[in-house]
Amino acid sequence: MSRRIYIFDTTLRDGEQSPGCSMNLQEKIEVARQLERMKVDIIEAGFAISSPGDFQSVKAIAETIKDCTVASLSRALPQDIDRSWEAIKNAVSPRIHVFLATSPIHMKYKLRMTPDEVLERAKSMVAYAKKYCSDIEFSAEDATRSEPEFLYKVFEVVINEGATVINVPDTVGYTTPDEFYELIKNIKENVSNSDKAQIAVHCHNDLGMAVANTLAAARAGATQLECTINGIGERAGNAAVEEVVMAIKTRPYLYNMDVRLDTTQISRSSKLISSITGVPVQPNKAIVGANAFAHESGIHQHGVLAEKSTYEIITPESIGLGKNNMVLGKHSGRHAFEDRLKTLGYNLNKDELDEAFNKFKILADKKKVVQDADLEVLLQHKAVQVPEIYKLDRFVINTGNTITATASVRLIKQNGDDQVIEEVSTGDGPIDAAFKAIDKIAGVTFTLEDYTLRSVTEGQDAQGEAYVKIRLGSRLYTGKGVSTDVFEASVLSYVNAINKMIYEEKLEEVIPQ
Ligand code: KIV
Ligand code: ZN
Repeated sequence: MSRRIYIFDTTLRDGEQSPGCSMNLQEKIEVARQLERMKVDIIEAGFAISSPGDFQSVKAIAETIKDCTVASLSRALPQDIDRSWEAIKNAVSPRIHVFLATSPIHMKYKLRMTPDEVLERAKSMVAYAKKYCSDIEFSAEDATRSEPEFLYKVFEVVINEGATVINVPDTVGYTTPDEFYELIKNIKENVSNSDKAQIAVHCHNDLGMAVANTLAAARAGATQLECTINGIGERAGNAAVEEVVMAIKTRPYLYNMDVRLDTTQISRSSKLISSITGVPVQPNKAIVGANAFAHESGIHQHGVLAEKSTYEIITPESIGLGKNNMVLGKHSGRHAFEDRLKTLGYNLNKDELDEAFNKFKILADKKKVVQDADLEVLLQHKAVQVPEIYKLDRFVINTGNTITATASVRLIKQNGDDQVIEEVSTGDGPIDAAFKAIDKIAGVTFTLEDYTLRSVTEGQDAQGEAYVKIRLGSRLYTGKGVSTDVFEASVLSYVNAINKMIYEEKLEEVIPQ
């Protein structure tokens, strides 16, 4: 009989911790909803005590999600556990996740605690958390560089205190598949009460082995696998959920495991994360890279045309990359539009559908053929919108190779009574000029940390997607804009980043500290 494997997604915690991947409240809720749609088993929504914003998003996710367990991370400290519980107590299925380092290096230099003190702290904090919540996960941070005998002792003690899951993190991505397989087997055999808890693994990718290590651990008996979408996470990232799950699904006789995850949501989840964070997926990335199903060489193309399985071990459809058999254009009616959205997995209410259809019509006027990718962008963009305090009214850009670029931008400031503000600026190129004009309107000077432009689909009339990352002091804000005109996409992305800044600042004012 196949073994049930639970997928614990930490995109919103470990993933969000990685440089350039921060998300605002709206974006986190949207990601959590997508994770629920994809049917992960557990969503680690954040680290409630780390900031008021994190607390707020963990709480909102706990109150929104119905079909997954929602976990909040806590150090092994009463105040962390209190805060986690406060954030998740209204969840249908809450979990407190407590972590404490067990390796000699971490105990000596980071915690400055003796092994006995660590053992005692682990015991007392799991007991403390258990008073709130029946589902407790305990992670032995840096487990793979810990003394195995000490690790067994810690796990035994926390299970006795009621831990339901014991996690074996490869915190620094140090282990190898063979070694990790042995460690998990040894934990099962040497922790006398290991049958009373699930064994989880959490692998980082510093040596590029996070997925291989995770799968080796699953074969050795781990039943909870901790992963992130697109493998985002601290440093080189975490095990990628799409790779772990598709390996299990593609090699059923080898793994003989059962996961409830709906793989047809993988592609959309990947695009959503990339779209929100502005971090592109490398083209040759397994499963979700743009080239994952591209066959370039003549021999491969010939083989695939004759029989797909010659060079394709998984189908694009299995990860939700449906074929676009239906062409939408400006003559397409509402019915065809609605039908296409349903096929793509979107179920919108009447108002949302009205709005999406209007946007589609505007797009179809500019573009001959509207592809699935265009629709996905249109809907994702809508899903994570923040209030539009500044709205683009119009812009004029004058540029050339013999003149200084000049931009005039007019925005409407929508705060009760609409205020029309127009500014002009020169710049080092047309985009710089436009961004400087917007800075003048907002009355601040941002540092542009990153700017990227990519096309959503192919063809001359393809939509351009622009991303900016702008910094003000120590805070970084990302913005996105989509248009068939790349200048417009760029201006929209900058305005979007400023709107996000205003939204986040407003939110902080109302969040209790
Ligand atoms: O990598 C790690 O050790 C972690 C723990 C907090 C589980 O992220
Ligand atoms: Zn981690």
